[in-house]
Amino acid sequence: MNIRCAKPEDLMNMQHCNLLCLPENYQMKYYFYHGLTWPQLSYVAEDDKGNIVGYVLAKMEEPEAGEDSKHGHITSLAVKRSYRRLGLAQKLMNQASLAMVECFDAEYVSLHVRKSNRAALNLYTNYLGFKVLEIEPKYYADGEDAYSMRRDLREIAKQLSEENDAEPISSNKSSHKSTDHSLHDGHCC
Ligand SMILES: CC(C)(COP(=O)(O)OP(=O)(O)OC[C@H]1O[C@@H](n2cnc3c(N)ncnc32)[C@H](O)[C@@H]1OP(=O)(O)O)[C@@H](O)C(=O)NCCC(=O)NCCS
Repeated sequence: MNIRCAKPEDLMNMQHCNLLCLPENYQMKYYFYHGLTWPQLSYVAEDDKGNIVGYVLAKMEEPEAGEDSKHGHITSLAVKRSYRRLGLAQKLMNQASLAMVECFDAEYVSLHVRKSNRAALNLYTNYLGFKVLEIEPKYYADGEDAYSMRRDLREIAKQLSEENDAEPISSNKSSHKSTDHSLHDGHCC
């Protein structure tokens, strides 16, 4: 299984995966909006044959009223049924969060999740450090409430900056950012 940055040609397969996994679907132009505006932030999981088995679709948001911190947002996340519980969603989310910090200095990442979605809630709270900010009543089209959640990304930013400070300057290094690729499976944004 491989996790990599999504390319424009992946967007249709990401939409297909979304249709299989979630009641919230988006028009193709919304995928293109994400892929073309923030090409660094969305990731796919592919099997050995290059089939897309999971994705995370992400974007940057304007600061909220009264805030000046930059933040990212997870628009959609899904993993096909037979590829679940392999840690793919966790990896996809970590890659997107890392890219938000590296590429846009995001201080936090936000998302909405259905109150009844135990699998996603477990993942977000127990594995990814998200906290519930508030309940948004009747957020979804069928009337279900959403938890509005946030994950603070400043610890990741601190870790990256310490690693960059510790990196010796070497003449045979390119101008590529000196990032610990173990944090994002070796793929660069
Ligand atoms: C939620 C979803 C993305 C999780 O994908 P995944 O790749 O299976 O998740 P991971 O393997 O990374 O899971 C990491 C942890 O999350 C929790 N988790 C994941 N699925 C779970 C489930 N069905 N029940 C309880 N906890 C679950 C577990 O603690 C898991 O760790 P463990 O397997 O060691 O116990 C997947 O179930 C899915 O696509 N669901 C439908 C779409 C959806 O709900 N998307 C989120 C919308 S907000």
